[in-house]
Amino acid sequence: MTTTADDAFAALGTLLGERLNRSQSDRDLHGRSESHFNDMPPDAVVYPETTDEVAAIVRICAAAGLPLIGWGAGTSLEGHALAPRGGVTVDFNRMNRVLDIAPEDMVVTVQPGVTREQLNTELRSTGLFFPIDPGANASLGGMTSTRASGTTAVRYGTMRANVLALEVVLADGRVIRTGTRAPKSSTGYDLTALFVGAEGTLGLITEVTLKLHGQPEAVRAAVCAFDSMAGAVDAVIATIQSGIPMARIEFVDAAAAAAFNRAASTGWPNAPHLMVEFHGSTQGVEEQVRRFAEIASEFGAQDFRWAAKAEERTALWAMRHNAYRFTLQAFPGSDPVTTDICVPISRLAEAVEETAAEIAASGIPGPIVGHVGDGNFHALLLPRAGDAAEWATAQRLAGNMAERALRLGGTVSGEHGIGLGKTKYMRKEHGDGWDVMGAIKAALDPDGLMNPGKLLPGN
Ligand code: LAC
Ligand code: ZN
Repeated sequence: MTTTADDAFAALGTLLGERLNRSQSDRDLHGRSESHFNDMPPDAVVYPETTDEVAAIVRICAAAGLPLIGWGAGTSLEGHALAPRGGVTVDFNRMNRVLDIAPEDMVVTVQPGVTREQLNTELRSTGLFFPIDPGANASLGGMTSTRASGTTAVRYGTMRANVLALEVVLADGRVIRTGTRAPKSSTGYDLTALFVGAEGTLGLITEVTLKLHGQPEAVRAAVCAFDSMAGAVDAVIATIQSGIPMARIEFVDAAAAAAFNRAASTGWPNAPHLMVEFHGSTQGVEEQVRRFAEIASEFGAQDFRWAAKAEERTALWAMRHNAYRFTLQAFPGSDPVTTDICVPISRLAEAVEETAAEIAASGIPGPIVGHVGDGNFHALLLPRAGDAAEWATAQRLAGNMAERALRLGGTVSGEHGIGLGKTKYMRKEHGDGWDVMGAIKAALDPDGLMNPGKLLPGN
């Protein structure tokens, strides 16, 4: 440490002028998350406009030993962007330009503050789109940092499969480029993959090159109700195993369906549902629909409701994207614990059914929704705020879900990540591999300034 925090703030002020903000209100805004964590505000917020500014910010903060936390849209669910040790939050809102669209290569390069909806608006005339859809209108820098996925990953993969190249500012202020626009490479360690999902603990991402996909000629979406949860889940397993290239296949349990009914007047039956979407040629989609309907009916699906028009589909998926919010509204006065496990498809039924049975026996509400085509689902556990016994029950259920995922050959997080909330499961999932992550961290950020308190051992 060569300078004081005050020297650093003075230097940041000289560099950024009003784009350094130390007001209580801005610090508070960047010290909140969308889930149950306590507020943890940074000491300052900065709004860089260029990679050079990010590198200068990192050098100034590093000299004073100030933590650096990247901020996109603030929609992560495991406290990734909170500042448990204070420091400087780097808000990428002003780095929100789509830098280069290359339709002939089906790639795009963006600054990290571009949101996924903004990107798709800018791509509209190209016939291409960016499919990854975590629900929230998240920033692409944040989605890269958390290896986001969501409803369409079953068809298009997660961020892992869709990030080709990055520009990253390291903890010592160096700027590196990883990957190229070529669709593949066999040149050494895959540094792009290392930063995708590093949750800002190894550097700050300042540019992202993404794969794009052709807009499908035909799209159809539907919801269908099932007699039982087992029927819905078994239908998913059979559908995935049959190789139907589902674009989306989402599970919603009866409690979540009831929350939709209450918030959006959907009038769905009080039953488990699947929400599905098909992409392809007109003929291809027809064939997919026929095969899916056959399988679903075999497992007790009834009452198919098709969203034929684009607006109906938008409304359907908007409702799914609001599942978290609608469920919270349905249970006012609760302190939500989000969960997120992912198992191999053959173990999905056990994972969902054991979880549902345990929640039912616990006496606290816990609607289940999930990106089940990927074996990924969430129970939104809803203990009453301030009720210590219910809170402990929710923690026990969440812990048991994590154990269950590992026992069934899966992972303690399919999409929400580790952040502050899930480090307690890392040793069990990764063993000595977690120490390897720690060694990589120590090599790239020896002073531990990049998003401290998250993801790694020893925090
Ligand atoms: C969802 C969020 C909670 O799937 O990941 O709705
Ligand atoms: Zn989800």
